[in-house]
Amino acid sequence: MTITFLGHAGLAISVGSHSLVVDPFISGNEKAKGKISLADLSPDYILLTHAHQDHILDVEALASDHESVIISNYEIATYYGNKGFNTHPLNHGGQWKFNFGTLKYTQAIHTSSFPDGSYGGQPGGFILSAEDKHLYIAGDTALTYDMKLIPARYPLDLAVLPIGDNFTMGIDDAVTAAEFLECKKIMGYHYDTFGYIEIDHEEALKKFSAAGKELHLLDIGASLEV
Ligand code: NI
Ligand code: MN
Repeated sequence: MTITFLGHAGLAISVGSHSLVVDPFISGNEKAKGKISLADLSPDYILLTHAHQDHILDVEALASDHESVIISNYEIATYYGNKGFNTHPLNHGGQWKFNFGTLKYTQAIHTSSFPDGSYGGQPGGFILSAEDKHLYIAGDTALTYDMKLIPARYPLDLAVLPIGDNFTMGIDDAVTAAEFLECKKIMGYHYDTFGYIEIDHEEALKKFSAAGKELHLLDIGASLEV
């Protein structure tokens, strides 16, 4: 699997010949300008952790151009299904075997309304199991004790965790999350996009390394192999 950082909470994941995009917020992200554009992406699937604008902004443009299947919680899948998009609904604890691998929808402590205020179900994250690897994408979340349940069943190769604080976990809670998840390799996301979530990179790298963890803060457009 190759995971590419699209800025903010956006990821592109390639699994074999399959292409996934998670939480696309590119056209509205000043920091992504000149580094990545929608034209670089052709997702077969779009995974959405929740309905906030900074996670769904480019969903309709991408899904229209590529006939992508939108995978999210029941309410978000229904919202896009009613607009004529291809969807697959999941709900917490449920998993489904897709042609690229298996996805499980996990708990997140956050909120999930669409930009117009309509109900976006309960926010979540995903565990992607493919090619004998397990990847956890936490979504926007607080630190939660439920994270301890994950390594009992899924030996994680990489965990993608929000670290920007204010709206989600910050650095210290994300270090604890990495411990709960028993995962050494962590990719940080949901930081630096706006003023509220700017972080000190050096401090973050130091704190993870002191805990025996490996934190990756990727440039927009850069990739990690799992
Ligand atoms: Ni959010
Ligand atoms: Mn967010």
